[in-house]
Amino acid sequence: MMQKKVHILTYGCQMNVSDSERIAASLRNCGYAETDSLDDADMVILNTCSVRAKAEERIYGILHTMKGQLKKNPDLIIGVGGCVAQQEGKQLLERVPHLRFVFGTHNLHLLPRMISEAESGRRLAETDFIDDDKRFDLYPQNSDFSGVTRFITIMQGCDNYCSYCIVPYVRGREVSRSPEDILTEVRLAVEAGVKEVTLLGQNVNSYMAKSGDGSAFAELLRSIAAVDGITRLRFMTSHPKDISKPLIDCFADLDKLCSHIHLPVQAGSDRILQLMKRGYTRADYLAKIARLRAMRPDIYVTSDIIVGFPGETEADFQQTLDLMEEVVYSDSYSFVYSPRPETKAALMPDNATKEEKHQRLDRLLKLQKKLTSGLQAVLLGKRVEVLVEGAGRMPGQIFGRTSGNRVVNFPGDPALVGSLQLPLIVRNNQNSLLGRLEVIS
Ligand code: SAH
Ligand code: SF4
Ligand code: F3S
Repeated sequence: MMQKKVHILTYGCQMNVSDSERIAASLRNCGYAETDSLDDADMVILNTCSVRAKAEERIYGILHTMKGQLKKNPDLIIGVGGCVAQQEGKQLLERVPHLRFVFGTHNLHLLPRMISEAESGRRLAETDFIDDDKRFDLYPQNSDFSGVTRFITIMQGCDNYCSYCIVPYVRGREVSRSPEDILTEVRLAVEAGVKEVTLLGQNVNSYMAKSGDGSAFAELLRSIAAVDGITRLRFMTSHPKDISKPLIDCFADLDKLCSHIHLPVQAGSDRILQLMKRGYTRADYLAKIARLRAMRPDIYVTSDIIVGFPGETEADFQQTLDLMEEVVYSDSYSFVYSPRPETKAALMPDNATKEEKHQRLDRLLKLQKKLTSGLQAVLLGKRVEVLVEGAGRMPGQIFGRTSGNRVVNFPGDPALVGSLQLPLIVRNNQNSLLGRLEVIS
């Protein structure tokens, strides 16, 4: 029999990247090998994101273009998973007649049965939530690891209900995976050659918070750092309100913990932070950054920022810019606010025009460019430690990231992948650095 093939398209955050690996593992058990080419595929799966309206619209656009593919290959089976699938459920089947199956964010374990039903011509949707840690028993264990770096999911869902955010509705309640399960996955990854692990969750600081005193995440970091063969450890995302002293102490004690924290501020004005229901003030946030820097003076901080939240004035926005300059973010991921179904903010009065919001975003992006470039310029002429991850941007180059999460491309032998190197930084490119390894006299 011919090998069946699946083409998986992944959108959205690292959580989806991690889920797609599990989807691929589950499909392998159903006899499907992964292919990069849609033309080769017997099945295509879209793992979707719904965090902003644009992300959702994009999925409908892609599903529409799949009609053309169906003309070429009428037997192509199309499935949709992830956050749009969770949000729309059965309705998605009604809205897109050429779609065969829809699976929600808690239903990855149902894929073997769903695939076999879809193969026999049925159309089906499964989007029930499973809101306890049984979800992880059903979570297909991934035993295939490749590459130097690896995302490992430690928790799913979110209970924070920030007023703009759809994630709690499409990912469900916060549930933590057991430390034993996580450590098993870390050890398997190390055996397969993984050197750097990034622990993933919508809010990793509240790992096991429901059952403990808030130090469980710090303990988890310590036990993973103790695993032989792990070179580097990262985590994301941390909610600023839940950053605890035990976690901050990890930055003092754990050499393997990288000098980078993604700590999304979202906005710089207290009034907007309150409307967003973020649970901290600007001063709280800055105090936490100061404590982190006291422990790890060279820590790089990145952020997510929403521009044009309902009611944001020019003065509010100016406070966001001021805060960015005060923290000196090495990077930020910023988008214009997008109203999402079911969220509180979608009902709030909004006065600023689309043009004003886009102009604000442009100003913010410009400032970020300046901050990133300034931080990178400091590295010129210095040697920085990078973990080599793979082929670089240009032929003959390899690339790695600094502990602070800046990308460095440099000429080098691909045999160095997986090792720590100390390239000399010779050029500051827009979003990355250029280095070289040889000693210069
Ligand atoms: N759990 C993470 C973020 C998850 S969503 C955290 O709490 O930081 C990723 C980012 O998308 C958010 O940080 C936010 O900046 C952005 N985002 C979420 N909802 C949005 C919306 N309705 N409009 C614009 N950006 C949004
Ligand atoms: Fe969304 Fe807030 Fe939860 Fe992050 S913490 S996923 S922004 S609700
Ligand atoms: Fe998008 Fe879902 Fe992640 S909405 S950002 S893929 S949790």
